[in-house]
Amino acid sequence: MKLLEAVSLNKRYGMERRWFTPGVRGVQAVNNLSFSLESGETLGLVGESGCGKSTLARLLLGLEKPSSGRVLYRSEDYTDWSFSKMRTIRNRMQMVFQNSLASFNPLFTVEQIIGEPLRNYGERKAQTLRVMVEDTLERVGLERQHIHRYPHELSGGQQQRVGIARAIALRPELIICDEPFSSLDVTLRKQMMDLLQELKRELGLSYIFITHDLSVVNRFCDSVAVMYQGGIVERQTGEHIMQHADHPHTRRLLSAVPVQDPRLRGHRISREKEYRE
Ligand SMILES: Nc1ncnc2c1ncn2[C@@H]1O[C@H](COP(=O)(O)OP(=O)(O)OP(=O)(O)O)[C@@H](O)[C@H]1O
Ligand SMILES: [Mg+2]
Repeated sequence: MKLLEAVSLNKRYGMERRWFTPGVRGVQAVNNLSFSLESGETLGLVGESGCGKSTLARLLLGLEKPSSGRVLYRSEDYTDWSFSKMRTIRNRMQMVFQNSLASFNPLFTVEQIIGEPLRNYGERKAQTLRVMVEDTLERVGLERQHIHRYPHELSGGQQQRVGIARAIALRPELIICDEPFSSLDVTLRKQMMDLLQELKRELGLSYIFITHDLSVVNRFCDSVAVMYQGGIVERQTGEHIMQHADHPHTRRLLSAVPVQDPRLRGHRISREKEYRE
């Protein structure tokens, strides 16, 4: 069953006529992009900086409207839905950000941060809220004592755990993770990937996992879509992409993946070389 579908999506920024800065050209951030996500699937979305990954995430979540094209959730077209109508599916699609701290209200405690989406969706009883928040905290590996802390009183890893807890509080079906662990060290990153896997099993989640690191998605994702200049140029299983990348852009991304053994390192493909060829 298709959970999410994008059909010929386009997003252009700054195309309106600018009287005071003539000659400024707009940006085609997402360019005629189509894909679909099956229920229960984990899709990795990779690509170099500026290729349109975060823009695509905002379009899928309905935070921005596409310039053209359609987005569908469980075959329902929500492209033109108003902000208030989006409420009916917003609880089913959530997001985890690269820097969770910046997305938290600094005056809220962990309990208020995780409880906020629950309150927004009608849960008012303090006792029930406390139980739900505690249950969610436990699922992401935090302790009860963290409930009264403010975000700046947590480590980077704990902040990302609170970000995940807030995302799963409403028991969504899909979570879009936008480079959620890129600021964490390698060991912590591995722990967080394991946590996402565990939550997927327990809660039956689907993920879109955005990163520009191909090595991270290899084991974690069912399939990987490679983005380049606003479009998807290749979509394969992680294993296939690591072994036989078909598109030159994917080969260049792969050549940038760090390899521990120097003897196994391939030749880096520079952008300049590719353009010369
Ligand atoms: N609100 C905006 N107004 C104008 N241009 C924008 C806006 N948001 C994004 N862009 C442009 O759209 C392009 C795609 O940006 P986006 O943030 O989606 O890239 P990204 O793939 O997420 O990059 P990164 O890996 O660095 O996060 C960039 O050229 C960016 O400058
Ligand atoms: Mg981004």
